[in-house]
Amino acid sequence: MAQSFSLRIQEARKFERWMCVYREQPGLFRLFEKAEDPEGLAAQRLAHLAELEGKRVLEIGCGTGWLTRRVASLAAHYKAVEPSAFMLAEAGDLHPAHALRASGQELPFADGSFDRIVMSWVLLDLRPSVRALVLEECLRVLKPNSADRGAGIWLIENAATGEFQALRGLLDPGGHGELAPLIEEFGFSPVEMVATQIRFQGEREAAQVLGAILGSRVADHLQRQPRVDLGMDLSILFRPNASGG
Ligand SMILES: C[S@@+](CC[C@H](N)C(=O)[O-])C[C@H]1O[C@@H](n2cnc3c(N)ncnc32)[C@H](O)[C@@H]1O
Repeated sequence: MAQSFSLRIQEARKFERWMCVYREQPGLFRLFEKAEDPEGLAAQRLAHLAELEGKRVLEIGCGTGWLTRRVASLAAHYKAVEPSAFMLAEAGDLHPAHALRASGQELPFADGSFDRIVMSWVLLDLRPSVRALVLEECLRVLKPNSADRGAGIWLIENAATGEFQALRGLLDPGGHGELAPLIEEFGFSPVEMVATQIRFQGEREAAQVLGAILGSRVADHLQRQPRVDLGMDLSILFRPNASGG
């Protein structure tokens, strides 16, 4: 990744409070999650591209259930893991998914238990060393199946374009932006970009939620220029499992 962009990420992350919010303010995170792509366009595309229907699917870091609610009913079996008890409590009943408390680097499943692994906004949040451990665990619990071209790990992450990334100071048109380490170091390929929105119930909610998560710089900006919605470009990425793809 270009040096200047990694500095930009560090700069943005100095203000942002994602981890504190997952741990201490899951109700606020739930408002954020509800606002993201309310029509479910990205999840629909992921379900289609990954051919989730009838498969054994594991979701890692399900949080308050953004992806779970949108795709679990398609799968034959859908397990979701999440390390934060607060997030799981806020998620409530995710049936037909079976959700349990575990972290991605210690998955409580036997080797070869799943056909697909899915994650939305998880891998990029992790420290690179933890990310590597999570990917190792993913490959262990995925069933090797070279005939199944969608077998592997499917991600939804923020693309390097769109108003939401602009608000964070993370635009990188023509480049991979934040996604660069996943592509350059961890073997993911961007498969599709979905142009959608993050849309709140009102300007006050947008300022409260985005200000709390993205920090004082964004809170000030939204006070000067109130918004209810912002364009959000989402990237779907795929990495085949060791012998699949
Ligand atoms: C940005 S949230 C995304 C939550 C959810 N996937 C969504 O789309 O709304 C990141 C989630 O990853 C979880 N997480 C953090 N470290 C993790 C780890 N080592 N293994 C699995 N999940 C982790 C956090 O608790 C949080 O719920």
